[in-house]
Amino acid sequence: MSVLFVCLGNICRSPTADGVFRGLVARAGLDEQILVDSAGTGAGHAGNPPDSRSQAAAAERGYDLSKLRARQVTEDDFHRFDLILAMDQANYNGLMNLQPVNSKAHLDMFLSCAPELGVREVPDPYYGGDDGFELVLDLVEAAGEKLLDSLRRQYQL
Ligand code: 4NP
Repeated sequence: MSVLFVCLGNICRSPTADGVFRGLVARAGLDEQILVDSAGTGAGHAGNPPDSRSQAAAAERGYDLSKLRARQVTEDDFHRFDLILAMDQANYNGLMNLQPVNSKAHLDMFLSCAPELGVREVPDPYYGGDDGFELVLDLVEAAGEKLLDSLRRQYQL
């Protein structure tokens, strides 16, 4: 099965989710069963590596984001992926507008898999301080574990 994480720029939140979730999937020995990718609703950073602050914060926790490159989400992604997960409501709304009628992908908010966190959105850290990047990692690690549990049950992996 396949999962696509989506934020605005694809340089902070969704590449963090991509790298962290890939790590969780690899640790579970499921890299052949679960394909992980990320994209942005905006095109402004396409081709760029993740923000250096996201890379540094992720590296501190053992995740290498350096090889990822930003791209804009396309209508075709709705035919390629099983699950498309938005980091916040604005990006969810943008994805709803892009979603074709015959979409294969199920569209959801990423944090809906972890309601116990009491947070609906992964906040945009781009214009803030280092603590925002740590919060992104905290939320993504916690929700990533929940997502993996739920996919394992749903797809019997
Ligand atoms: P992201 O963060 O959506 O988590 O990648 C942002 C990156 C860039 C901008 C906004 C948010 N920007 O306005 O350029």
